[in-house]
This record gives sequence, structure tokens and C-alpha cells, in this order.
Amino acid sequence: MAEPASIAVVVGVAGGLGGALARTLGAQGRYDLVVGLARRRPADWPNSPEWPFIETDIQNEDDLLAAAQVLRALGSLDRVVVATGLLHGEGVAPEKTMRSLDAATLTRLFAVNAVAPALIAKHLLPLTPKDRPSVFAALSARVGSISDNRLGGWYGYRASKAALNMLIATLAIEHRRTRPLGVCVALHPGTVLTDLSAPFRKGGADDTSFIPARSAQALVELMDRLGADDNGGFFAWDGSRIEW
Ligand SMILES: NC(=O)c1ccc[n+]([C@@H]2O[C@H](COP(=O)([O-])OP(=O)(O)OC[C@H]3O[C@@H](n4cnc5c(N)ncnc54)[C@H](OP(=O)(O)O)[C@@H]3O)[C@@H](O)[C@H]2O)c1
Repeated sequence: MAEPASIAVVVGVAGGLGGALARTLGAQGRYDLVVGLARRRPADWPNSPEWPFIETDIQNEDDLLAAAQVLRALGSLDRVVVATGLLHGEGVAPEKTMRSLDAATLTRLFAVNAVAPALIAKHLLPLTPKDRPSVFAALSARVGSISDNRLGGWYGYRASKAALNMLIATLAIEHRRTRPLGVCVALHPGTVLTDLSAPFRKGGADDTSFIPARSAQALVELMDRLGADDNGGFFAWDGSRIEW
């Protein structure tokens, strides 16, 4: 019987990092298919059978279920990267003070940054292979580290990423029972020049932000280095561990 196709999936390919991660995974040439998920197909998404695109709103579990059904028929998920996330947008701005705390904003941040990746894991982790290594990685953020929090502020984003980290650590424990070679991790991509970081970057000579392709290259190489002992960890783009 033929081996199932080897698949890399990137959730959030319309985003700065998601698009770069898909291109970097594709350039490695080690996956039969690079599958992109996003609310809208990016204009530059390749029009090729090796690059399927599945329109998915990650906040809609029916969409996730439908995407999982398509993916199951395509093959085994050797890499899954969740590159969606929310920091600012219509009606959402990082809080500088507790006076700005707002229930609807907090709920939205938790829904996108923590609940949705958990449901993505619920539907996609069972599609990772049982007999060979695989990586499921959710892009978190260093500011979600509780022990690293010295500046305060950004309540909702920080807390939703901390919640994501706990969900990943918990998923990892269950995942290794059926897939001892599988790895489930939270990754910090560095500060990257995307729409998400644009309003908050210093600019000028002090700006050490990465272009998305540089961060994506580092993250893809890191995923290739991760082993079963790294399951459940929180890592920066350079492979260093981040304290919870
Ligand atoms: N950039 C940085 O400096 C930085 C630093 C630390 C961590 N991160 C993390 O890295 C990840 C990627 O961020 P980025 O910098 O690439 O930001 P980005 O360019 O804003 O991309 C985020 C993507 O998430 C998608 N998304 C949000 N809600 C969604 C939903 N309900 N369904 C489907 N897609 C949804 C957005 O889709 P639409 O295009 O449809 O809105 C957007 O394309 C995020 O988790 C972020 O927190 C980034």
C-alpha cells in the first residue's frame, strides 16, 4: 500500500508570518502538499494541486471540522503551524491600564488566541502520524510568559497567550499517549514586521524586527530540530526555552 501523502498545514496563511511559513515549508521540498487555511485565499497563493487552500474561519468549529475532513482524505499531517492571532483591530487595542479592561475585547482576544487554536488542535492533532515524528506548533508570544512580565499592560493579549500556552502544555500530555514521536509546542517568532506588530514597533535604527521570511526560516528549522523530549515546551525562534 502506498504511504499516505506527507502534508504541512499552515493555519492563517493570509497573515504575514503564515504566508512566509507556507513558502518556507514549500521551499524545503520535503512535503507532498503544503495546505493553507485562512478566511480568504491570499492573492499570491499558488494555483497548484500541491498547494491546496481551504477557506476556514478558525472561530467556526464547523469550518474546522470540514477542513479536517478534507485533510484526512489528503494524507498525514507532519507539520501543523497555527499562525493566526489577534493583538489589535476594530474595537481591539492593547490595554495600557486596567481602566481600559473591557469584557467584549477580552473575550474576543481569548476566542482568537486561545480557544480557536485549542479547537484546531482538537481536529488536527488526530491527523498527525502515529509511526513517525510530527510537529504541531502554535505561534504564541513571549509576552504571554507570566515570569517574563515586567512591563505590565497588554492584559488581554498577554493573558490569552498565557492561556494558549497552558492549552498547548495540556494537549501535549494527551498527545504523547497515542503519538510518542509527536511534538506539540508553543513558539515565539520574535518581533516580526507584520500588520500585527506595525503600530508598536520603534522604527528607525533601533528596530531589530525580523522580516517574516527570516522568522519563518528560523521557526521551520527549529521545528525540524525538535524531538519528543521537547513536547509541551515554549520556545523562541532561536530554539531557546522561554519560562512560563
Ligand atoms: N509579528 C510579531 O511581531 C509577533 C510577535 C509575537 C507573536 N506573534 C504571533 O504570531 C502569529 C502571527 O502573527 P502575524 O504577525 O503574522 O500577524 P498578522 O499578519 O496580523 O496575521 C494574523 C492572521 O490571523 C488571522 N486570523 C485572525 N482571526 C482569524 C479567524 N477568526 N479565522 C481565520 N484567521 C484569522 C488573520 O486573518 P485575516 O487576514 O483574515 O484577518 C491574519 O491573517 C500571531 O499568533 C501573533 O500573536 C507575532
